Amino acid sequence: MSNRSIEQRVGARRGFATQQLHGDARSSADPATDAIKVESPRITPRQTPIYLTAGFVLDDFDQAEQLFSSGEGYSYTRVANPTNEAVERRVAALEGGAEALLVGSGQAAVVLALLGLVQSGEHIVSASSIYEGTRGLLLDNLPRFGIETDFVDDANDPAAWERVIRPTTRALFAESIPNPKNEILDIAAIAAVAHAHGIPLIVDSTLATPFLVRPLEHGADIVVHSASKFFAGHGAVLGGVIVDNGRFDVDRSGHLFPQLTDRGRLGGPSFAERAGGLARIAYLRDVMAPRFGPTASPLNAFLIQQGLETLSLRVERQSANALGVARWLEQQPEVHSVDYSGLESSPFHALAERYLPDGQGSVFSFTLRGGVDAARIFINALDVFTHMTHLGDVRSLVLHLASTSHNLRTDEELSQAGIWPGTLRVSIGIEDLDDLLADLDRGLTAIRGAA
Ligand SMILES: Cc1ncc(COP(=O)(O)O)c(C=O)c1O
Repeated sequence: MSNRSIEQRVGARRGFATQQLHGDARSSADPATDAIKVESPRITPRQTPIYLTAGFVLDDFDQAEQLFSSGEGYSYTRVANPTNEAVERRVAALEGGAEALLVGSGQAAVVLALLGLVQSGEHIVSASSIYEGTRGLLLDNLPRFGIETDFVDDANDPAAWERVIRPTTRALFAESIPNPKNEILDIAAIAAVAHAHGIPLIVDSTLATPFLVRPLEHGADIVVHSASKFFAGHGAVLGGVIVDNGRFDVDRSGHLFPQLTDRGRLGGPSFAERAGGLARIAYLRDVMAPRFGPTASPLNAFLIQQGLETLSLRVERQSANALGVARWLEQQPEVHSVDYSGLESSPFHALAERYLPDGQGSVFSFTLRGGVDAARIFINALDVFTHMTHLGDVRSLVLHLASTSHNLRTDEELSQAGIWPGTLRVSIGIEDLDDLLADLDRGLTAIRGAA
């Protein structure tokens, strides 16, 4: 383009394509931009604003340079976003943690928490009673990256963990209330095993929520959540959170985690030097999340934040309803067994009283005597319960495990896990208990009718 043609264009009305993006600079006293600057002291939204934006305008050349060298501030949502950070602060506070990181799903939280600690040639020990997606990850997928896992059947036996720990073990993993059988974890006992080896205990506390138990207070080092469940609460969005206790001990454990102690490629300070006890979560925030990219949508973050505002009310009600349902089911002749730690008959009742005095959660399983045929009739007869693979919703949900979420297990693996042809998982919602019992009675009546 010649100098003359540029001159001709200066001062001309902007072209359509430019205008649809930037407006007409000359038509307004303000620079024509649809970006809303929020530092105005006169605008104070009561709700968390949704910063639904891929990135943030860099003020000027120097500010950009400063932002990229310090890492402080907002440049791109995969790196940091104020709406997501609001959730992180809230969950860290609720869990009694030092810092939290929000990601796009619970599965992403589990993957990131593990991969931040463990690398090729290293090893994980996990309780075997865990969410089936995590079990599949550990069993089938991480081995492809050179990471092996041993599983412990009796998760509350410290000696069983000790037996399989190797010099290369970098993390222990378990769920506080395991999905689907509500077999409560003795968090303090397993944390002590981890600490004797200088490695962290990661607890997936999705089914408990910090309202029922705060694993960090019992010695766990890292807590992960599927925020898709009780946090969001209404079955609308996915999310995941990792919470760290901020107690990484470089003297005790630094030699096991070179990713935290090695200096950067260009010689900058290591994560341990820069973040001290927060080295693990700083590494997840600065490296694992932006590089692996499981970013949560700010819109989802907003909905999770709204959910968190009623968390205790829902979980308290859901736990009370669950106890009512479990007690009722236990009385029914068609029901062979009920796996709920709130029941006096549960082998996990004493642990539940110790760790979960305010309620034992609302996700548990029970087994119908009539096997898969009874399960089919029962599920198809229900009206109030929703038939779906989800949990922690305000609505009550039901699922037949062997034919759905656990269908990749062999018969032997199923019976090892106590999942029988008649086993159903329920997630109890906030409905009126009488209506839930009437619905379950409808299912049992249908079984009797078919006999
Ligand atoms: C205990 C537990 N952890 C993690 C997940 C994975 O969460 P998401 O579905 O949000 O990826 C689930 C999902 O059911 C779960 O039950």
